[in-house]
Amino acid sequence: MTDSTAPTIVVSAGPDEAACCTADLITESMRENHAAVLGLATGGTPVGVYRQLVERCRSGKLDFSGVTTFNLDEYVGLGPEHSQSYRYFMQQQLFDHVNILASNTHVPDGRATDIESYVVEYERQIRQAGGIDLQLLGIGNNGHIAFNEPGSAIDSRTRMVALTENTIDANSRFFESADLVPRSAITMGIGTILESRRIVLMATGKAKAAVIKAAIEGPIDPVNPASLLQQHPQLTFVLDQAAASGLNV
Ligand code: F6R
Repeated sequence: MTDSTAPTIVVSAGPDEAACCTADLITESMRENHAAVLGLATGGTPVGVYRQLVERCRSGKLDFSGVTTFNLDEYVGLGPEHSQSYRYFMQQQLFDHVNILASNTHVPDGRATDIESYVVEYERQIRQAGGIDLQLLGIGNNGHIAFNEPGSAIDSRTRMVALTENTIDANSRFFESADLVPRSAITMGIGTILESRRIVLMATGKAKAAVIKAAIEGPIDPVNPASLLQQHPQLTFVLDQAAASGLNV
């Protein structure tokens, strides 16, 4: 008997092929629905994906005019002009280069003053847009998805969270020093992410092999937040050979 909730696992040769494959899945979703609602991630992993999407849009193969996007997370305290804010990243990597309406792009506001009301409003906006059709995720070395660190509840919603030392250390590569990495962030919750109709988690490189193995083959356990995705009916992992190297397949 096949397990109807078993994720689809795509293993590509290297990071460029994985980016191309992930871009293909996003392209497919946008062609199925001109008004697709995409959930987007930042970090090193999706950079090649955005490059592909920009190229496809420039060559007329992809149209963002009806698309709406919601990003997973943002550092508390960083505004859109800060070069390490996720809003800045998204403008540089994707939004400034495709025909998306600025008003259709949503990245949590790191400068929100009333964060409690703000996060409720972010969730309302996702619902109002009709929910997320395809959510793109990366994975942290400790299994975090968005900024849902180990211990996050399966039904958690968009909220402010404290970052772990592990994540601060991993993300310090983008800042001049670890002291400059914000200590908290706004993140979609795991419950929020699980409501997406389709989830695509992309991971590349040997450093992600152990956490990918635990996410796919380990128990469903908040210790590895990515393992909480296992019950999602439309879950795809796009890996390169290095990230897939620990799997029993
Ligand atoms: C970013 C995000 C994070 C990253 C994760 C992996 O929006 O949600 O969970 O996906 O930290 O980051 P990279 O891709 O830099 O290894």
